[in-house]
Amino acid sequence: MCVSAGCMLVEKKKTDYITACTGDSVLLPCSCTDGHTKPESFTWKKHNTNRNSWDVISSESEQYRNRVQLGTAHSPGNLSLHISHLTEEDEGVYRCYFNQWKYKNIKLTIKGCVLEHNRETKHITAHTGDSVLLPCSCIDLLAKPESFTWKKYHPKRKTWDVISSESEQYRNRVQLGTAHAPGNLSLLISHLTDEDEGDYDCVHKEYEQLYIKLTCKEISTTEFTSIFDGKTSAKAPADASTTDSAKTLTDGNMRLLQGLLIS
Ligand SMILES: *[C@@H]1O[C@H](CO)[C@@H](O)[C@H](O)[C@H]1NC(C)=O
Ligand SMILES: *[C@@H]1O[C@H](CO)[C@@H](O)[C@H](O)[C@H]1NC(C)=O
Repeated sequence: MCVSAGCMLVEKKKTDYITACTGDSVLLPCSCTDGHTKPESFTWKKHNTNRNSWDVISSESEQYRNRVQLGTAHSPGNLSLHISHLTEEDEGVYRCYFNQWKYKNIKLTIKGCVLEHNRETKHITAHTGDSVLLPCSCIDLLAKPESFTWKKYHPKRKTWDVISSESEQYRNRVQLGTAHAPGNLSLLISHLTDEDEGDYDCVHKEYEQLYIKLTCKEISTTEFTSIFDGKTSAKAPADASTTDSAKTLTDGNMRLLQGLLIS
């Protein structure tokens, strides 16, 4: 019978250090030097710090169901472990055993969402009719929060009500978080009304929170004037002082406005 040398682990002594974010996928590399050598058997284990034991990782277990892939079908010497939908519980030391005594360690660190400016209060002022962004984010914008909600204080009922884009009050007016950065939990409210004024709370995992006090202002006459004469034309920079006809119109409006103020 011809016996092959069997699987020799690549870099068997070294411990690999890998960092990933919650919500992401990670590949814990482990392979035989010869990619086509099939080890007699291989297992992945994770260190259980509570019991100081090594638990076998199985795609059948509840913890890992539909989340792990052990090795690759097309390359028998590739024993890599792929884990998706990472949670903070996935952090720890993993071991790739290619027989009972030979293994390789991988230390996986998970960066979860930690709310930036936790427990702080921000004051924001916006104009009715406009849009406003209530900022709230994880320190690491790539970390996916395990759960987050936005709440608004109802002074009459003295309750904190969850803001939902499904509710009649906010339908087609709010956007909770952004698709391109999972750690950006900001709330965008458009077509602001007086009722939107008040206290907001961005809550992550029930215990981290950021408070925002939103003040809604009507656009005042002085602000109209500044828009028309283009001095502090933050709101309409393109409209002021572009063409002569626009200027004439502006002057006309100014006179009209002054006339109204005098009368
Ligand atoms: C092992 O397989 C994974 C997933 O298919 C792949 O990303 C990785 O590069 C492979 N490793 C080696 C050493 O071939
Ligand atoms: C979050 O997303 C909003 C809207 O896309 C953007 O204006 C804001 O700058 C983002 N915040 C961070 C911290 O990237």
